[in-house]
Amino acid sequence: MRSFRYSLPATDLIFGKGSLEYLGTELRKIGKKALLVTGKKSMKRLGFLKKSCDSLEKAGLEVVHYGEVVPNPTVEVVDKGTERAIDNGCDVVVGLGGGSAIDTAKNIAIATGHFEGEKISIWEFAGVHDKPRQITSKSLPVVAIASTSGSGSHVSRFAVVTNQKTREKTGIMSPFICPKLSIVDIDILSCMPPSLTAETGFDALTHLMECFVSKKANPITDFTCLKAVKLIFDYLPQAYNRGDDMEAREAMALADTFAGWALVTSRPVLPHALSHPLSAFYPEISHGIALGALTPGIMQFNIDRGDEQVVSKYCQIARMGGEKVTSCSKKEALKSVKAVQELLEKIELDITLKDLGVKEDSFEDMIESAFTTMKGPIEANPVPVTREDILNLYSKSM
Ligand code: NZQ
Ligand code: MN
Repeated sequence: MRSFRYSLPATDLIFGKGSLEYLGTELRKIGKKALLVTGKKSMKRLGFLKKSCDSLEKAGLEVVHYGEVVPNPTVEVVDKGTERAIDNGCDVVVGLGGGSAIDTAKNIAIATGHFEGEKISIWEFAGVHDKPRQITSKSLPVVAIASTSGSGSHVSRFAVVTNQKTREKTGIMSPFICPKLSIVDIDILSCMPPSLTAETGFDALTHLMECFVSKKANPITDFTCLKAVKLIFDYLPQAYNRGDDMEAREAMALADTFAGWALVTSRPVLPHALSHPLSAFYPEISHGIALGALTPGIMQFNIDRGDEQVVSKYCQIARMGGEKVTSCSKKEALKSVKAVQELLEKIELDITLKDLGVKEDSFEDMIESAFTTMKGPIEANPVPVTREDILNLYSKSM
């Protein structure tokens, strides 16, 4: 076995049905005045915004609500939230929602913590610049309450943001934004409608499969990713068909948590590298749907070009997907693609880029954006990739 280094940032994770009740008492140990960041509707409509405010206020904390997060959150949304946090003197940022709300909370925590009298846009911290602004321990502490099982953001040190002007979607990374406290309450997760369960569950599956085949994988991620891949093959259709199935919801939340840790300790590869430009150029396409359209073609490509080790990894994925794999060959490895395609059909996510309204004349610009914003995942792909390969992969997904 080759030697490796493994370090997980510390997150105090409270996992289980009803765990939102601990929010106030636990947050009291972290701050006094919280900016509570949510999307525009769901958490209010489902009563979890009120529940969170009540828990915080009961514990003697002050709460300022910022409820303007949109899916694929933008620089403007983050900057406006930063202004709200600064104006109100908040000392901790809580993200209540899916990846979009939690990522926005993280980005607000960075920009607010580094405020020294002059406004700073979050974009100044993005790695797309030659010399991005440094993210330090001045960042405010972040608390995450997950309402989806997909992004892994509740335990990761990434915060995704989209610059609509330059049409770049990128992940800002820092150990300082990894949530100090993370709450995974199954009662919130069981409110997800089927389509959201499908999109977010497939996102978690791709995190696991990508981090498993990645050049940055290590024996610990190999072990945990494979176990969690099996959880998703076994339980995602069940969670999709019966939203109130607590066993399936728990399994998905656990798999999402393992996937978040895998993102931190390994690295995603091509499907994520190619999906970010899609959402940057077509903001209405959700992250999970983009991954559904791209993933099978990329798996085929990696198997076709992969060496014995890569092929073996896809054979193991196929086994987790319930396929009978008798030997380690490219033919057997392709059964992993079949397993993924069958899963996509079961959760009604077998969609092409054409179905999503993507136009071929945007491919060149999307490829450019992928190389600027997602260089790391492109380089971590288990087989080398050229611009021409990416063009072919986008075309194949039409
Ligand atoms: O906006 P509201 O009204 O709150 O509604 C949301 C939103 O419209 C709704 N929703 C969320 N939880 C719900 C719910 N509706 C009913 N019941 C619930 N329990 O769902 C819609 C989508 O929410 P969003 O947060 O956008 O979904 P998701 O969790 O898939 O997050 C996607 C974002 O995470 C980023 C993606 O790029 C994307 O921006 N990612 C973040 C990562 C990270 N930080 O490490 C890694 C991932 O690869 C991913 O890229
Ligand atoms: Mn993802």
